[in-house]
Amino acid sequence: MKRHWPAVIILIIVTVVIAGECISGYRKREADDKAMADVRANEPVDTAWRGWSYFHIPRQAEDSDLIWYGYELIAHTADYLGPKGSVMQITNGMNCQNCHLEGGTVPYGNNYGKVFSTYPKYRARNHGVQTIYDRINDCLERSLNGWQLDSNLREMKAIYAYMEWLGSDVPKGASPGGTGLVRLPYLDRAADPEAGRKVYVSQCQSCHGVNGEGQINGQTNAYVYPPLWGPHSYNDGAGLFRISNFAAFVKNNMPFGISYQHATLSDAEAWDVAAFVNSCERPHKDQSADWKEIADKPIDFPFGPYADSFPETQHKYGPFEPIRTALEQASK
Ligand code: HEC
Ligand code: HEC
Repeated sequence: MKRHWPAVIILIIVTVVIAGECISGYRKREADDKAMADVRANEPVDTAWRGWSYFHIPRQAEDSDLIWYGYELIAHTADYLGPKGSVMQITNGMNCQNCHLEGGTVPYGNNYGKVFSTYPKYRARNHGVQTIYDRINDCLERSLNGWQLDSNLREMKAIYAYMEWLGSDVPKGASPGGTGLVRLPYLDRAADPEAGRKVYVSQCQSCHGVNGEGQINGQTNAYVYPPLWGPHSYNDGAGLFRISNFAAFVKNNMPFGISYQHATLSDAEAWDVAAFVNSCERPHKDQSADWKEIADKPIDFPFGPYADSFPETQHKYGPFEPIRTALEQASK
């Protein structure tokens, strides 16, 4: 027995160490679980609006063909209205769905949840009341850098019918959570196009291309990855040309495949990549008829003249907080 005591002591030590490890491992797991539970408990309850998918479009309804056609036009705009469109050739080849994800049904994905409930409404840019048709035409002329559609055309009626169907569960006047674009807080500095270029190269370029040109499927003529700048992209009158809109869209939806609950870009990266993309070349739209009241221009509207004395570059890239504070003080 005497000869075995060193082995016994080693055995005891090993047992104690292993038991200790187990206990501390268990405690750590317990702590991790608790931390995770705290995170979950503090997550906002998901009340964001989500639209029905196209396969819910009623088959028996009187206008189901029209709603269905409206969905098709949103999801596959280029097939009907693109440069080689089967109905007419009036757009740049992008699809509405490139920016209004999954037919405009995704929470925080620039969806159409509040379109039917809130239009017609006053819009300062147009200095008047805007109908759903007018709003659709705005995106056709700016985001798709194309031409308007007459409201008597079947295509326009179809898009309208689809929006009506999508919004039929939303009470008149309501804007449910996560509809449209949900803006990010301002940075305390100007957004930085150079920092944004690095974000672009590492996180966007693989799909959207070295020159922001996107990638087209040669057989279908539809974009697999839509362009972000250059001649086939949205023009400088489009909503995405304002970096608050771009940053908001990208933060919650890009790189493609993420969702707003699991965003991977920091707010700063989203603002910086917005600044980079919107500093690149794109088609120009004459906007001289917009904003009759210059005081109504949004803070990040990138073209002067302005009702304040901040320069165009600050209105385009920020910092926005000083502008906001100055406007607030001026209105007191
Ligand atoms: C390049 C991106 C892009 C494309 C493509 C695009 N849109 Fe938009 N659209 C936007 C952005 C950004 C806004 C929000 C602008 C804002 O809030 O200032 C918007 C807003 C809208 C709205 C108003 C939403 C609301 O809640 O007020 C409607 C309706 C709309 N788009 C319809 C369309 C239709 C129909 C098409 C296709 C013909 C289309 N859009 C294509 C970017 C796009
Ligand atoms: C894995 C591929 C992929 C990556 C990476 C990716 N995107 Fe996209 N992006 C897409 C696709 C696909 C769409 C169109 C979505 C649709 O039609 O359903 C899109 C749409 C967009 C749009 C709206 C349409 C347009 O062309 O204007 C913007 C803006 C955008 N992406 C920006 C970015 C930015 C910024 C990054 C990097 C932070 C990024 N994307 C990374 C695939 C990608």
